[in-house]
Formats: sequence, C-alpha cells, structure tokens
Amino acid sequence: MEKRASFGTKFGVFAAAVGSAVGLGNVWRFPYLTGNNGGAAFILVYILCILIIGIPILLSEFIIGRRGQGSVFRSFKKLSPKQPWYLVGLIGVFAAFIILSFYGTIAGWTIEYVYLSLKSFFITTEITNYSEYFSNITGDNTIPVVCQLIFMLITGIIIIFGVQKGIEKSSIVMLPLLFIIIIVLCIRSLTLPNSIEGVKFLFYPDFSKINSSVILSALGQSFFSLSIGMGALITYGSYVKKDNNLPKTAILTAFTDLLIAILAGVAIFPAIFSFGISPEEGTGLIFVVLPEIFASMPGGAFFSLLFFILLAIAALTSSISLLEVIVLFVTEEFKIKRWLATVLATIAASILGVFTTLSFGPLKDSTIGGKTLFEWADFISTNILLPLGGFLIVIFLGWFYKKKYIKEEVTNEGTIKFSLFNLFYFSIKYIAPIAIIFVFLRGLSII
Ligand code: PHE
Repeated sequence: MEKRASFGTKFGVFAAAVGSAVGLGNVWRFPYLTGNNGGAAFILVYILCILIIGIPILLSEFIIGRRGQGSVFRSFKKLSPKQPWYLVGLIGVFAAFIILSFYGTIAGWTIEYVYLSLKSFFITTEITNYSEYFSNITGDNTIPVVCQLIFMLITGIIIIFGVQKGIEKSSIVMLPLLFIIIIVLCIRSLTLPNSIEGVKFLFYPDFSKINSSVILSALGQSFFSLSIGMGALITYGSYVKKDNNLPKTAILTAFTDLLIAILAGVAIFPAIFSFGISPEEGTGLIFVVLPEIFASMPGGAFFSLLFFILLAIAALTSSISLLEVIVLFVTEEFKIKRWLATVLATIAASILGVFTTLSFGPLKDSTIGGKTLFEWADFISTNILLPLGGFLIVIFLGWFYKKKYIKEEVTNEGTIKFSLFNLFYFSIKYIAPIAIIFVFLRGLSII
C-alpha cells in the first residue's frame, strides 16, 4: 500500500494548524463582529467559547484524524464502522465548500487591495471617504470576481503540490511576518489622538450588550477562527505523526489564534475612534479603517502593500485547509487523482463564490429573508453547520468511542503525559455539548 502523506516536522504541524486557524477570521471577521456586537462584552464571551468549547473540540479533531488516518469522512468510518457517524464527515465537506466560496470573496478584496496599494492609492489626497470608496470597489461586477478567481486558482495550485511542499512550507514563512506587521499597526493605532476610546471599547465590557444573538455570533466566530467543526483539523490530524504531542499543539494553536485576533482588534479599534468611523461599519470594516491608518503613517504605502500581501497569504494558508478537506474526501472515496479532485473542487467552489462576490454588487438587492447570498453562506456555515459539526464530534468521542482509545491516542500510547486528560474528557462528554446546545437554541430563539 502507498504510504500516506504526513507533515515533516513538529514545527510544521504547528505551522500548518496555525496557518489554517489564523486568517481572515482573525483580521477581517473578528474585528467587524466585535464592532457590530458592542466590543469588550463580545470579546469576553468569545474567549469563554474558545476555552470551554473550542480547545476541547480542536483536540478532539486531532485525535479523530490521527487515529482514523483518513479524510473527515473516512476517519469517522474507520473509528466507527458500524454506525453512520461518517455523515458528520459529509456535513464537514459541505461546510468546507460553502466557507471556501465566500472566503474567496473577501480574499479577493485583499488581493485587490494589494494592487491598489501598489498604485499607492491610499496615499493620494483624492480619497476623502474610504467607506464610499470601498463600496464602489466591491460593488463593481468584474474586478472583485477576477480577484476572487485568482485567489481560488492559487489555492488550487498549492493543494496540487500536496501536504509537505504546499501546505507546510507556505505556512512557515508567513506566520512571523504577519505577526510583526500587526504589532507595527498596533503601535501606530495606539499613538493616534483619542485612541483611548478604542481601547475602552475593546477592554471595558458593557454587559447590557450581551444577548442571545451576540452569544451565537461569538460561538460561531470561535469555531470559524479555530477552523473547527468541519474536519479541517481532522484532515490535518491524519497527517500528524504518532510522536506529536497533540494537546500541546492544540493549546498552542488556540492561543496563537486568539492572540492574533486580539492584536488585530488593538490595531483597528483605537484608529476607528480616532478617525470617527462607526465601529458598526460591517463586513467592510478593515478595508475602510486600515487604508486610513496607512494614509496617516510615514511610509504608509509600503506598509499597506506589505500588510495586504501578508493578509492574502494568511488567507491562503486557511483556504488550502478548506480545500484539502474536500480534496482528500474526493480522492479517497471516488478514487480519482489528486490533481483532478483539486480541479473539480476548485471550480465548484469558485462558481458559488462568484455569486457570493456579486452579493456586494449587482446582487446586492437580491435578498431572501433580508440576507444576501453572501450573508446566508456565512450564517449557515458559521452559525449552524460548524456548531452542529462540533457538537457531533464531541458527542461521538465522549459517548460513542472507547475512553481507553482516546487516552491511548492523546498520550501517544502512554509515552507522554497529559495531566488534564480527565478535565478534557469531562468537557467533551458534558460541558462542551451542553454549552453548544444552549447557545445554539438561544441564538436561534428556540428557547
Ligand atoms: N480559521 C480560518 C480563519 O480564521 C477560516 C477557516 C474556517 C479555515 C474553517 C478552515 C476551516 O480565517
């Protein structure tokens, strides 16, 4: 039998997991949701979701993947051959497909901003209203689509190269660079006049802002940002070698992801208040605020170019993990070549993506129940499919899989210590599932 692909080094595993987790979710989605949902109180709920629900699921996915040695579908099938748990795998593949489509939309904007930075547009004095400028750019019916397709094409090409050469290598390079530039942005933002208002918005919670839909958004965001609930980390887990310390990798990944989201908030909110922009700007928030920050900085054109390139790369290391979920599933189940599976999956996700991209232009007013196609894709995948997938993952491990096997897998057959094992087990059996059900039903106004 052909030997399965695997990640080369331990750092490579960490880089790939963080590469998947850190992306537009941290820099684009987290700030705009924080703005829409009232600031610090949302962040607090978000952090609780990560600690109580996110980390246990993240680790569960690694366990299922490494033990199952297959796609999200196949891993479930191997671990539970007689019961239909593989259906969770199908939900995951479906979620990956939807997320990939609208992810391409935002990543496409990022690419467009790279180009605009090259023309150093932020620095010209012609633009007085960045919000209007953003609407014009994304409302166009060709350029955003072309940029989205370029992004999808690059995603496909990396996936054709495979696990070590494609996924691992590209993640290792961008991580430290992105981190550094976000820190530079934080410093700039914090030294703007009146920046303290933004700091207050981020760190002094106003609990009256918390309601059930805020909590559901925080839960959905924690899943989206950690890349959990749809099998990306089951898929990556299947490439992790048997000597890797899974709990350590899981915890480090979650904290790095959280740190980057908070730093993105610190880079953005002080500037928002300083420039008098509304924090409730919505999906366009970072594309409106950041150019203003750059325009106010010495060397702004250079920093803006660097930033959007890095953000596009961060988006790529996430989108490849989404595409890999679909490609591994298709190659294993339909026995077709990797390159062909990649081409087909990329085309399918790109087609849906064209429509989500046009939701900001010609299809802006084609809404169903008040939401555009983009908003539906985002809502269904993030607030419904991911929590549902995450719920089923912990229920499976906590109630339907032998505790002894879980312990074996997580401690590498007893060769490493995991002193929090009992807490972890309790959490996947009771805490995480109950918490998800509660938030889910409240958020959808069912209880
Ligand atoms: N975690 C990625 C981000 O924050 C998005 C993602 C979601 C990737 C789900 C894979 C799976 O940008």
